[in-house]
Amino acid sequence: MEQQIEVLRTEALAVIGAVTDRTSLDAARVRFLGKSGAITALSEGMRHVAKEDRPRFGKLLNDLRQAVTEALESREMALLEEADAAAVSSLDLTLPGTFPAAGSLHPLTQLMDRAVQCFRRMGFSIADGPDIETEWHCFDALNTPPDHPARNEQDTFYLPDGRLLRSHTSTVQIRVMENCPPPVRIIAPGAAYRRDEVDATHLAQFTQMEGLCVGENISLADLKGTLEFFFRELFGPETDLQFRPHFFPFTEPSYEIDIRTEALGNRWMELAGCGMVDPAVFEAICERRGDRAYDPEVVTGFAFGFGLDRLAMNLTKIPDIRMLVENDLRFLRQF
Ligand code: DAH
Repeated sequence: MEQQIEVLRTEALAVIGAVTDRTSLDAARVRFLGKSGAITALSEGMRHVAKEDRPRFGKLLNDLRQAVTEALESREMALLEEADAAAVSSLDLTLPGTFPAAGSLHPLTQLMDRAVQCFRRMGFSIADGPDIETEWHCFDALNTPPDHPARNEQDTFYLPDGRLLRSHTSTVQIRVMENCPPPVRIIAPGAAYRRDEVDATHLAQFTQMEGLCVGENISLADLKGTLEFFFRELFGPETDLQFRPHFFPFTEPSYEIDIRTEALGNRWMELAGCGMVDPAVFEAICERRGDRAYDPEVVTGFAFGFGLDRLAMNLTKIPDIRMLVENDLRFLRQF
C-alpha cells in the first residue's frame, strides 16, 4: 500500500503541474480528491490493512491528500497570475488617458481672491451679510435720510414687505458693529443691486468689496496707508493714487480714490469711495446695541468700498460688462 500511495502522489503532482487551464484543473481535482476519486478509492483499501498498520497508512494517506490539495491551490494561483499578466500585456500604458476638462476661475473671482489675500495680510477678516436687507441697515444706520435719491423706488429693488436688495455692501459695516465690539477690521466682498438699465457698462447686480476698520486712534493716515498699499499690491508699485474730496452720508470727511496705472491704460480712473466713519453712524450703532461701545468720542474708524466688475473689466480689457455674467465658455476659457 505504501508503494501505491507513492505512485499516486507522483502521478497526481505530475498531472496537476501540467494543467494549463481551469477546466483541466477542475477535472484533476475531481480525479484525485473527488468522492469517487483515486485517493478515496485508496482509502477504501484500508479495510484490508492489518490493524496495527492502519495509523501509519492513515497518516500517509492524509499527507497525500494534503500535498494534492496544496498542489491544486498553487497551480490555481499560478493560472490566475498568468491570466492577469496576459490581460495587462495587451494594454498600452504609454497611451495618453482621457483627461477631465479642467475649469478655471472666473476673472471676477480671481480679482476678488487677490484682493482678499492682500487685506488678510493686513489683518482684515472677512465679514458677510444678507443680500436681502432692511432699510435700516442699508440707509438709516448709514446716515442716509429718507429723501436721499438712493432710497427712491426707481433706484432700489424693494420687496413687498419693505425689505430691499442691498444697494451697496456698506450694510455689512452695520451688521458687524451691531454684533461685535471694537476693534474691528473687516472686508466684505459680495453682491449689490441697483435698478440700473443693463448695458455695456451697467449691471443690475454687481460685486463690491467693503472695508471697515474701527478702534482707538484710527486716523486718515491709516486709511491712506492701507488703501495705497492695497492698490499698489494689486496694480504694481508705480501706481498713482489721488484722494479727491467727495460726499458720502456715512463718512466725514469723504473721498473718492482715483488711480492711474499701466495695467489700466495709464489714465485716471475713479475706483473707490472712502472716508472716516461719520459719528452719526456710531451713534446709530450705540442706540441699537444699547451700550457705548462705539462712542464716537472714544473710537474712530475708516471705511471704503469699491466695485469689482468695472475693475475686472478694465484689467482684462473686455469691452462689455455683460460678458462677466453671460457664462459663455468661449469667453471664460481665456482666463
Ligand atoms: N457704498 C458706496 C457705494 O456703493 C461706496 C462707499 C463709499 C463705501 C465710501 C464706503 C465708503 O464704505 O466709506 O457707492
